[in-house]
Amino acid sequence: MDIARTPATPDGNPVMADAAIEPKAPPVIRREDYTPFPWLIPATRMEFELGLEKTRITTTLNVERNPDAAASPTIRLNGDGLALVSLACDGGSCDGHMIDGDDLVVTLPGDRHVLTIVTELDPSDNSQLMGLYASNGMLCTQCEAEGFRRITFFPDRPDVLSTYTVRMRGPRAQFPVLLCNGNRVATGEDGNSHWAEWHDPWPKPSYLFALVAGDLVARTDHFTTMGGREVELNVYVREGDLDRTEHAMESLKRSMQWDEEVFGREYDLDLFNIVAVSDFNMGAMENKGLNVFNTKYVLADPETATDGDYDGVEGVIGHEYFHNWSGNRVTCRDWFQLSLKEGFTVLRDQLFSADMGSEPVKRIEDVRVLRGVQFPEDSGPLAHPIRPDSYREISNFYTSTVYNKGAEVIRMMRTMAGAERFRRGTDLYFDRHDGEAATCEDFVAAIEAGTGLDLTQFRLWYAQAGTPKVAVTLAHEGDTARVKLTQTVPATPGQGDKHPMPIPLKLALFDRASGTHSGEQLVVLDKDSAEFTFDGFAQRPILSINRTFSAPVSIDRDVSREDLVFLAAKDDDPFARYEAMQELMTGHLVAAVSGEMDDGEREAARTDIAQAMRAVIEDDQLDDLMRGELMVMPGQTYVAEQLLVADPGRIHAEREALKADLGTRLAAQFEALYERTGKVPFSLDAQGKGARKVKTLVLAYAAASDPAKAAELAAHQYDGADNMTDRQGALMVLAGLDSAARTGKLLDFYNRYAGNALVIDKWFALQASSLHPHAIEHVKALREHPDFTLKNPNRVRSLYMAFAANPQAFHGADGEGYRMLADLILELDPINAQTAARFVPPLGRWQRIEEGRAKLMREALERIAKAPKLSRDTYEQVTRSLG
Ligand code: PHE
Ligand code: ZN
Repeated sequence: MDIARTPATPDGNPVMADAAIEPKAPPVIRREDYTPFPWLIPATRMEFELGLEKTRITTTLNVERNPDAAASPTIRLNGDGLALVSLACDGGSCDGHMIDGDDLVVTLPGDRHVLTIVTELDPSDNSQLMGLYASNGMLCTQCEAEGFRRITFFPDRPDVLSTYTVRMRGPRAQFPVLLCNGNRVATGEDGNSHWAEWHDPWPKPSYLFALVAGDLVARTDHFTTMGGREVELNVYVREGDLDRTEHAMESLKRSMQWDEEVFGREYDLDLFNIVAVSDFNMGAMENKGLNVFNTKYVLADPETATDGDYDGVEGVIGHEYFHNWSGNRVTCRDWFQLSLKEGFTVLRDQLFSADMGSEPVKRIEDVRVLRGVQFPEDSGPLAHPIRPDSYREISNFYTSTVYNKGAEVIRMMRTMAGAERFRRGTDLYFDRHDGEAATCEDFVAAIEAGTGLDLTQFRLWYAQAGTPKVAVTLAHEGDTARVKLTQTVPATPGQGDKHPMPIPLKLALFDRASGTHSGEQLVVLDKDSAEFTFDGFAQRPILSINRTFSAPVSIDRDVSREDLVFLAAKDDDPFARYEAMQELMTGHLVAAVSGEMDDGEREAARTDIAQAMRAVIEDDQLDDLMRGELMVMPGQTYVAEQLLVADPGRIHAEREALKADLGTRLAAQFEALYERTGKVPFSLDAQGKGARKVKTLVLAYAAASDPAKAAELAAHQYDGADNMTDRQGALMVLAGLDSAARTGKLLDFYNRYAGNALVIDKWFALQASSLHPHAIEHVKALREHPDFTLKNPNRVRSLYMAFAANPQAFHGADGEGYRMLADLILELDPINAQTAARFVPPLGRWQRIEEGRAKLMREALERIAKAPKLSRDTYEQVTRSLG
């Protein structure tokens, strides 16, 4: 069903236009309907009288006719649940105005006017965390995508750029720190209040507005840009958190340096502020000069943050900083262009993290996220192109497709052009569009002009949804090898016919005898099917394809296990080695759950996998970070994705069985590895991180093969841990086992970190994602824990996202997991719609799951759809998911 064109109630009836009843189906917004806004707002002045329960905002807009748009006698200012206190035009009363739905429409007779709008809000009552809200006694804002309209009436769309001057006033004791975008230009005291005036010289769309007031402390540092600008840097947190901000600050300085070196981008204000808040819907937000972060992506020290957390902080700090150019200096014309800033900025943060650490390991992690999250999205009811054609609620389109596939699409252009020519393309893009609200088409056109590539057909990557599948066959005759490639782009909702896309594939052909190849090649498959021939192979070579994951496609190749064992041990592209290991295990698991396997075959496959794994463990050329990647088993979702219809119970059982088998066969090797890595002292370098990664992996294998031994080792690792990675890893293993140590260590962990919200989040998540057979009961009990609250998105996610990703607990055959998630969505929707809607996709997988469970999943979705009142967010996700 094309959801864009058939607005219907969940039961399929057309929506009745009855003004008395709140329309249940929110309108569909379409990309093709874009028109420029009839007015320009060159200057915006705001005055905030701050209070947690009552904030009054006076907004003064200088408006003038937009010469590049069709003239209009009125101006539409968006609002969302706002009460208008007063309105003035040019200092007097208005010729005419009306409230239309949530918006304010004002008649404007002349070519330029000054509008003065007063609104009043209760930030403490804002549980949606959009607009101006209170969090732990501080005030902060979140405006992307459409939160500014919850603060004042304004053309809340990204193509209306304005210069902001903001004066904020509030009680000094309560809000000693007053922050906004740009530079602080004046301050003053009056009685118990104080005020600050901020001016941001860079015109910006309303979604980049931010304001923070609170009792905060800062870590301060400096950065001198390549042009000699002295920039003051601050990371603001609550009092007790200051000693956990060093890594964030170092990451910020590295980001600034890297963007100058790699993309030639310099910072453009004298001040850069980051503020950490504990109630936040997303990871972080790139507001101009005032980034607001989820505490999860700021606070880190070895005692409370894992190595993964450290990497997350560095990556997100980089991401938000890089938005200053890819997003802020050049912004988006409309929200359909979201991938213009997000896809590009994700690519930039990926390249940054690769440069700061291990490039191949970073690539593998990024591909794991893509295949674990984006591929399922692309093959399900919520599939959409990276540049969507329509939406009802834009918050639902901050997806892995827009972000991660968006990054892959830009990465392909870079792969085809080479890094140097790609840089000419991005320079041209920034040059051409600085200060503008641009489109994806503008980006592609600039890359085309700067690199010399012809991207005519490549543009399909922006328009077509679905993960292309490339079938690969290798034929050998005489001394010629022929690689035949055939692509299919699957049908997705609303897109029946697909056209072939250009797919850049890096490949190499290995000589069996020497174990080497004579050079990597890049081939571009741009037709349905094509054959590439390679001469000089007396023997049938071994094909390594989609090296470095050069294209975001799934490869379907007919390859022997023997060749995979070869590639896993010998491929000089680390990604391809990882891929060979994954394919060995995935191939076996898929065959095993498809019920086509006798004991002999099972034994043969397991022997080969163990042989390959053993080679990985014993390869002394490998660093442990990379070794860990090669030891990781393919995730349950990834295996399920290979099957048309999956039985989560069987996949789980086969996957655990393989884990146990490997643990048994390689017990001696794992033990030696554990002993060696256990001696590596704590450090944050690659050696230390690698050792910790491998250690916990060994425990996970042991937990499957020898639970008693694993419990003993894990308890010991837990007690001796001098860092969170080791402690959490050990506790994760223990949480899955029915051992005596389980309860004691869980309790110890809770008591040790009581009051540290981010660590208590881990405590919830560990239990919700555990392999313990009663995990679902644990989730139910944790739901009633005094520390659980629906008001804090991190806490909700820590329990329920972990649960929804736990195949055993969530996909129990009786459907209890599905009912629990539906209950959560219904309860959370009125409190925080954006967060509630993010729990819908796991239920939307029903089409790809065996009949019995599929029916129960649909029932859960239907129950949500029948709720008398649903947010736009949840309504859209549920109706699309029902298909
Ligand atoms: N623009 C933010 C980012 O990519 C994400 C975000 C979206 C944050 C919407 C808040 C709200 O980094
Ligand atoms: Zn972003």
